[in-house]
Amino acid sequence: MYSLAKPFLFQCDAERAHELSLAALAKTQHTPLAALYRRPLISNPVELMGLTFANPVGLAAGLDKDGDCIDAFAALGFGFIEIGTVTPRAQEGNEKPRLFRIKEADAIINRMGFNNKGIDNLVENVKQSRYKGILGINIGKNKDTPLEQGKDDYLICMEKAYAHASYITVNISSPNTPGLRSLQYGEALDDLLAGLKEKQQQLAKQYHKQVPLLVKIAPDLSMAELEQVADSLVRFNIDGVIATNTTLDRDLVFDLPHAYEAGGLSGRPVQHKSTQVIQALSGYLNGQLPIIGVGGIDSLTAGREKMAAGASLVQVYSGFIYQGPALVQTLARHL
Ligand SMILES: Cc1cc2nc3c(=O)[nH]c(=O)nc-3n(C[C@H](O)[C@H](O)[C@H](O)COP(=O)(O)O)c2cc1C
Repeated sequence: MYSLAKPFLFQCDAERAHELSLAALAKTQHTPLAALYRRPLISNPVELMGLTFANPVGLAAGLDKDGDCIDAFAALGFGFIEIGTVTPRAQEGNEKPRLFRIKEADAIINRMGFNNKGIDNLVENVKQSRYKGILGINIGKNKDTPLEQGKDDYLICMEKAYAHASYITVNISSPNTPGLRSLQYGEALDDLLAGLKEKQQQLAKQYHKQVPLLVKIAPDLSMAELEQVADSLVRFNIDGVIATNTTLDRDLVFDLPHAYEAGGLSGRPVQHKSTQVIQALSGYLNGQLPIIGVGGIDSLTAGREKMAAGASLVQVYSGFIYQGPALVQTLARHL
């Protein structure tokens, strides 16, 4: 079915194709039409952070930002689903166009800028869904919240998401919210992690449930910066790390159409870079916290490279756009 839909979707503007696809999934997910795309859920369980993942292949954040299509993505056979990034208040995101395919490189550039309908709407969607598997909620800050008050936005989202999430991801690595990535460094990172950890302990008592806290990092950190991040994650007892988000690096798309659009680059050109980050991180962490590997996974070999580098689970976004749901099945079966 995807091979029929793809030529049509790839004719459309990228964001339009995204909207059409999500609208179709949202409309059909609770109807008999879902049988058209339902795939078996491959059981290849992974135990991690006190959770049981049905298989090691997750939907990466940003595809279903508001959690509109949780049951549809579950029907495609993902072992876990991450929704968001969501912010405390709804926001439009950046001006369009803001999403570009680089077909020659199986890549995407986006500068969406956390377009989303806010945490309350997302929580409503989670409540409406029938999904019983592992659900990650990825949280961020509103663009118009000053960076110095950014922590408060994460705390607001965490408080509202906690009861409904299997895990929570703190996104400090989007290149499309001004200043956000500076939260990955030094005192700003320590201050954020200390606040989030304290909130997690308070919420764990309140809800009698331990919800793991993960941090999602950029692929553009130097080795020295990565070592510092790893040190902070261990010191603050963070439960896991997601590596990586999109890159600012354009070396591998040099000269291609859209290559110099502002934003984060994902897909095949980030594959190697993200694997290198996972490998280095894995060395610094020495098994003290698990890594979810994401970045350019578009084949079983690419997925196996992430695992060999030290990831315990993987996520896909761009590979899923270019290869379709068959990729999920292959990875889920053989990783
Ligand atoms: C259009 C688009 C939107 C994204 N939005 C988010 C987001 O809101 N939050 C986030 O943590 N990552 C976001 N990402 C990053 C992906 O989750 C993933 O980390 C990155 O694209 C690398 O994986 P890939 O090469 O498989 O796409 C987005 C990626 C794309 C292509």
